[in-house]
Amino acid sequence: MSWVTTAMLSVLAASYGEADAGRKVFNDAGIGTRGVSCAHCHATVEDENAGDGLVRAGHTLFGVAKRGYWRGDTKRKSFATLNEAVDECVKLFMGTDGLEGADKITLAAYLKSLSPKKKARPDLDTGLVPNNDYDRPEFRGGDADRGRPLFFAACHSCHPNGGAGIAPTLEKSSVADIAKKVREGNGLLRGSRQPGQWMPSFGRERLTDQQVADIAAFIQTRR
Ligand code: HEC
Ligand code: HEC
Repeated sequence: MSWVTTAMLSVLAASYGEADAGRKVFNDAGIGTRGVSCAHCHATVEDENAGDGLVRAGHTLFGVAKRGYWRGDTKRKSFATLNEAVDECVKLFMGTDGLEGADKITLAAYLKSLSPKKKARPDLDTGLVPNNDYDRPEFRGGDADRGRPLFFAACHSCHPNGGAGIAPTLEKSSVADIAKKVREGNGLLRGSRQPGQWMPSFGRERLTDQQVADIAAFIQTRR
């Protein structure tokens, strides 16, 4: 084997090892202070219908390293690099300042390994309407039977069985409270993040209004 081939192979081996370590960082709920991992909120498969069936607030990160921009920042003014776009999630949702050292390097290698081809940034449909009142007909009269599997796919990881986990119990939440929290999360989408809060919002392309209504109906049966 020529030294060139040997050198190339060892670089490849190093990057495979790094991507492998980065996959563990991606799934590690201990990298921040809130017990939540990247995998709680992002799938990594190309076609989410071919994934594990969970409904996550964020988009799949398949192809993310080859996207032209992140977080809707088309001119890359706020997030010039993928690492900066990742750190924004770490700050907003995971409760620490940003990744450092080996975690940062291996996670970047893993995200790169998920990006064999160019994939357009998925469009966000936030589901926000100008009317701030969530006591609306579209969220009332949901079907608890349809809501049950949706609840376990979308909410159970943080609100186990509707009780307290890494997030609070939903015991006292009304249908309108639930619809508001699902659509607005920590409030950032309306431009003012509620201090200390970090629930991500689910846009309409993640859960339709009907599905939010069904989940809310199911939660009402758990009291
Ligand atoms: C509590 C949920 C949550 C956690 C935890 C989280 N994210 Fe996010 N992330 C989101 C949401 C919501 C968005 C905005 C919607 C979207 O673009 O997917 C987002 C956006 C992103 C984007 C921008 C995607 C784009 O193309 O614009 C990247 C990159 C990203 N997250 C990476 C990560 C990584 C890596 C981690 C772990 C270190 C992480 N996120 C942790 C919820 C989360
Ligand atoms: C990634 C974790 C996560 C997921 C997934 C999640 N939540 Fe939450 N939720 C939180 C956190 C954290 C809070 C506490 C308030 C905050 O920090 O924003 C919360 C608060 C709430 C509240 C307000 C409860 C109160 O009394 O303050 C409601 C209602 C709620 N969530 C509903 C839902 C529903 C419905 C789903 C599924 C569609 C869901 N959440 C999915 C993390 C999550």
